[in-house]
Amino acid sequence: MITSKDNPKLQEARKLAARRAARERSGRFVAEGEDLLAAADAAGWIPRVRLCAAGSGLEGEEVEPDLLAGASGLGSGTRALAIYDDRWLDAAPSDGLCIALHGVADPGNVGTVLRSALAFGASAVALGPSTADPFSPKAVRASMGAVFAVPLVRYDDVITLPGVRIALAARAGDELNGPIEGAATVVVGAEREGLPDDVVAACDSVAHLPIASESLNAAMAATVALYELTRGTVTARTATRMAAP
Ligand SMILES: C[S@@+](CC[C@H](N)C(=O)[O-])C[C@H]1O[C@@H](n2cnc3c(N)ncnc32)[C@H](O)[C@@H]1O
Repeated sequence: MITSKDNPKLQEARKLAARRAARERSGRFVAEGEDLLAAADAAGWIPRVRLCAAGSGLEGEEVEPDLLAGASGLGSGTRALAIYDDRWLDAAPSDGLCIALHGVADPGNVGTVLRSALAFGASAVALGPSTADPFSPKAVRASMGAVFAVPLVRYDDVITLPGVRIALAARAGDELNGPIEGAATVVVGAEREGLPDDVVAACDSVAHLPIASESLNAAMAATVALYELTRGTVTARTATRMAAP
């Protein structure tokens, strides 16, 4: 039983939760809460470290509940926490529908896009320059466990992304029309600035979702685009185990 806040596993969990640099240096991240850990189990992820509150009856090495709460990023504390190795593909799959996030800086948006990507069967989510870390605690939570199921890839240049590249822009190009056949990548821009001109120019087409206001939130735009481009092709299937809403 862990009884000291200076225990190295607790220290590592606190560090990984707090600092992107620590996550990137170690290639590890933290997930907390029984539902997220269950989603990881269901997707076959083996934790490096698994901790649970003493007396909870949960799987893992027991920790005094107050100490575990101290390592938690949740205001309410947690009964379970685990550390995993992150996973990145070397390149996005050459087929299917990939969602690329270019400068999407809010980790909540990144996690929400992961959740939608899983729901609509996207082949991968590609994380571009200045995009939030999908393994940050906030993104992991917002993904509701999808971070364990959706392939992730990093990119610097949209030209490396697979298939027909569609730049999503709030008020430019043609109306987005689906469903789409063959490989494609939909590129979503930053919350404030949208997509840089050179990124739009490197895409094969520009498309918008017709709306009655200025723009949608980046994650909402990605979700509507996923719906439109996969319309009629996604069937309800046995859901990958996800965290509770
Ligand atoms: C909040 S918006 C950025 C707004 C920015 N001021 C602009 O005009 O591009 C963030 C991203 O969501 C996507 N987006 C938002 N609304 C959209 C719409 N109606 N059609 C297509 N994409 C949209 C775009 O990719 C955009 O870069």
